[in-house]
Amino acid sequence: MKKDLLNISDLERNDIGVIIEKSCWLKQLLKDGQSYTPLKGKTLGMIFDKSSTRTRISFEVGMFQMGGKALYLNSRDTQIGRGEDIGDTARIMSRYLNGIMIRTYEQSLVEALAGEATIPVINGLTDLLHPCQILSDLFTISEKRGSLEGMRLAYVGDGNNVANSWIEAAAKLRFHLALACPEGYDPDGTILRKGKDEAGDMIALYRDPYEAVREANVVYTDVWASMGQEHELKERIEIFSAFQVNEDLLAVAAKDVMVMHCLPAHRGEEISAEVIDGPRSVVIDQAENRLHVQKAIMEILM
Ligand code: CP
Ligand code: NVA
Repeated sequence: MKKDLLNISDLERNDIGVIIEKSCWLKQLLKDGQSYTPLKGKTLGMIFDKSSTRTRISFEVGMFQMGGKALYLNSRDTQIGRGEDIGDTARIMSRYLNGIMIRTYEQSLVEALAGEATIPVINGLTDLLHPCQILSDLFTISEKRGSLEGMRLAYVGDGNNVANSWIEAAAKLRFHLALACPEGYDPDGTILRKGKDEAGDMIALYRDPYEAVREANVVYTDVWASMGQEHELKERIEIFSAFQVNEDLLAVAAKDVMVMHCLPAHRGEEISAEVIDGPRSVVIDQAENRLHVQKAIMEILM
């Protein structure tokens, strides 16, 4: 049966370990200059309803490096943008392609596409989730720290798609996840409840970022206004002002704290320039790892 990657909840604990190990191996192979083309002759369709730099480039370059081809399909230029039935789209794409990556608004659209397609579907970000990002970040953390054992991750800011995927990951892998979000900007209620049912006190939501960050060895943030919320930015800047990741906040974290951001970042909003460009920030290595992890995901699924 074909497998999709729509969220982290549906993965087995072991699947995450396999993805991390494969990413590590693929990264080394590339650094050693060895060619590895397990997807020769295969094609990935990449449907984008939203902008992207890292996701688009890493999937496209990843396919190229593994001997396959990626097609960039902007919804506006295809019949999807003119309302073609998603089931028809899925069934027809399944006759041409070997896999689909989709970045869109509604999680339900990704699920409908996966339900009708006979080829693997990968969620490249929805309003609800960003699973490929968090899988890649887990690889970065295990690479930098040697393992995920004993990790205390603090997520500071908007309870958005990235936060929701972190909750799913913490519930699956059982690491400490402390979230700090302003009231009214919590993560998805269903995901948070399910995460807490599964992981209990390992997952906690705070209103005070200092409480969440205390003793954290990874501090993570993301934009205050996600794609599609740009019109709310002015209002959000005021509401989120106490949630900036800056030197003051990091003073209460563990001494060896590592700072992460999925990018794109807004210096002076969710993170200070001093912190994101400083020695504890791993954001560029973090972004590079998207490539190695997308390759692992594609090889496993396709
Ligand atoms: N982090 C991330 O998904 O970046 P892009 O929006 O550039 O793909
Ligand atoms: N939360 C952000 C992530 C971007 C990669 C957004 O959805 O715009």
